[in-house]
Amino acid sequence: MANAVIIGTGSHLPNKVLSNFDLEKMVNTTDEWIKTRTGISERRLVANGTSTSDLVIPAAKAALESAGISALSLDLILLATVTPDVVFPATACLIQHKLGAKNAVAFDLNAACSGFLYALKTAEQYIKADTYKNVLVIGAETMSRLIDWRDRGTCVLFGDGAGAVVLQSGKNNGRGIIDTQLYVDGSFYELLSVPAGGSRLPTSHQTIDDNLHYIRMKGNEVFKIAVRNLAQSAREALKNNKLSVDDIDLFVPHQANIRIIQAMANALSFPMEKVYTNIEKYGNTSAASIPVALDEAVRKGRLKKGDLVLLSAFGGGLTWATSLVRW
Ligand SMILES: CC(C)(COP(=O)(O)OP(=O)(O)OC[C@H]1O[C@@H](n2cnc3c(N)ncnc32)[C@H](O)[C@@H]1OP(=O)(O)O)[C@@H](O)C(=O)NCCC(=O)NCCS
Repeated sequence: MANAVIIGTGSHLPNKVLSNFDLEKMVNTTDEWIKTRTGISERRLVANGTSTSDLVIPAAKAALESAGISALSLDLILLATVTPDVVFPATACLIQHKLGAKNAVAFDLNAACSGFLYALKTAEQYIKADTYKNVLVIGAETMSRLIDWRDRGTCVLFGDGAGAVVLQSGKNNGRGIIDTQLYVDGSFYELLSVPAGGSRLPTSHQTIDDNLHYIRMKGNEVFKIAVRNLAQSAREALKNNKLSVDDIDLFVPHQANIRIIQAMANALSFPMEKVYTNIEKYGNTSAASIPVALDEAVRKGRLKKGDLVLLSAFGGGLTWATSLVRW
């Protein structure tokens, strides 16, 4: 059976920086509170008129360039996002058009902040089944569009960005995705959501007056569930593949809160020196956070061919996921 090998990465962040000090002027918060409770110093925001697909194109082009393949070689484009350009058609279709990837089919996938790992697993299945050979897997978000900038409980956390990887069907040389496990517990559906704008509560004057088009989150509860489930799923993934924590060269977690990342590393007895973090600069970019971090890690030389990488994510749903990749 073919392996799904990551052969290229790319990312793109908008230029506009919103610092904690800027937020101090907008809501009742402080740089110190945000830094100590989340690890975030600043985040990037798109300009007016910029959509998720606009962020994706430079990230996708960089991923294709580093993979050394043209857009015409792509068979499938998968976009993980909760902030599509429009309700439908899928933003992935517009990306196909903008890239000139005429031979690719394309669709969006929503697993909130776990979306990139859900998309990675989906792409892997197509490759292993020999359906597609070259797949562009993207995580991209304009979270700033879903933020209530008066809500200090959420507006300090999120940012915008896009990351992409090219997955290719490879010979069995040991490289590629070793194992990805996906999890859902829908009983926690209400903990993190945007209540209106869908079929349950279509947009109306009332939903706008009630602020129902913004992110609602019970942060404290999400925090506890995330730490518990992420550590457990990473342990399971290692055990199932007869690997130990010592075998991992780099851990690239979803960048939601530095305390969640530290708690998980602590629970696994994993040294923070081998954890890649960039949350300080970008905040939580939802589905974009892992592919952006992977691209940075590659470009900084922190990730080399043959390294064993642990990826883990969690998000609305609640969803969570763990992946082991031989780079
Ligand atoms: C949101 C989060 C940072 C809050 O940190 P916390 O330590 O759990 O803080 P709490 O929610 O218990 O709030 C503690 C106090 O800080 C206050 N507070 C909340 N946001 C604040 C802010 N931006 N600035 C200052 N104070 C703030 C709260 O109102 C509360 O005040 P009170 O004690 O007077 O009621 C944290 O729970 C978190 O990161 N959760 C996970 C969220 C997440 O990752 N979601 C995305 C999943 S992909």
